[in-house]
Amino acid sequence: LLDGPLKGKHVLVTSGPTHEPIDPVRYIANRSSGAQGTAIARSLAALGANVTFVTGPADVPPPLGVKVVKVQTASEMKEAVDAALPADAAVFAAAVADWRVANASGSKMKKDGSGNAPALEFTENPDILAGVSQMKKDRPKLVVGFAAETDDVQANATAKRKRKGCDWIVANDVSPETGIMGGSENAVTIISDEGAESWPRLTKDQVAAKIAAKIAGALA
Ligand code: C5P
Repeated sequence: LLDGPLKGKHVLVTSGPTHEPIDPVRYIANRSSGAQGTAIARSLAALGANVTFVTGPADVPPPLGVKVVKVQTASEMKEAVDAALPADAAVFAAAVADWRVANASGSKMKKDGSGNAPALEFTENPDILAGVSQMKKDRPKLVVGFAAETDDVQANATAKRKRKGCDWIVANDVSPETGIMGGSENAVTIISDEGAESWPRLTKDQVAAKIAAKIAGALA
């Protein structure tokens, strides 16, 4: 572990998409690359934190110098987060699927020749961020959520912060024309008790360094 302002602090970071199976060979996913969460974990470790990095199947490799826990589904991510607690701070950068397939098949689904398509049924996944934010006992001192929005970014993110009960929301506009999802840059607004703080468009590494520094300040 490195020396730095986060030495001795345990920080949990979730990152990447989740994959929700339809059958053993098919799944539902989203376009999260895991780039921003990975960069945050790397920046936290560089400031000396002991980082547990719970990641779905991301496009980018996990950082060095962190404890990596690989998961596929939202349910597995929740279990891994619960197992990693307690933590001084928790950053929920993962793009968790809101729903999983309720009638997933244990064997590969096949066309039956009738021309009928299968119907998928969905059930809601646990909200990992809300669960940790609302812990009554041993809650991390700082809980940070993300809000990837395409419309009314600040208003939606402010409402999300209230609803989930986290301390900060890192809000970003993931409209396709921004190129942010899957890209190397990000433009974020941090919403906290102190209001909204917008940062200019920066690389995801720069955003990560600033978030890690802000976390170090909050835990100091
Ligand atoms: O509600 P929404 O998915 O937009 O909220 C995004 C934030 O909530 C992110 O920080 C994400 O990691 C977290 N989240 C979660 N578990 C879910 C859904 C979202 O931790 N099931």
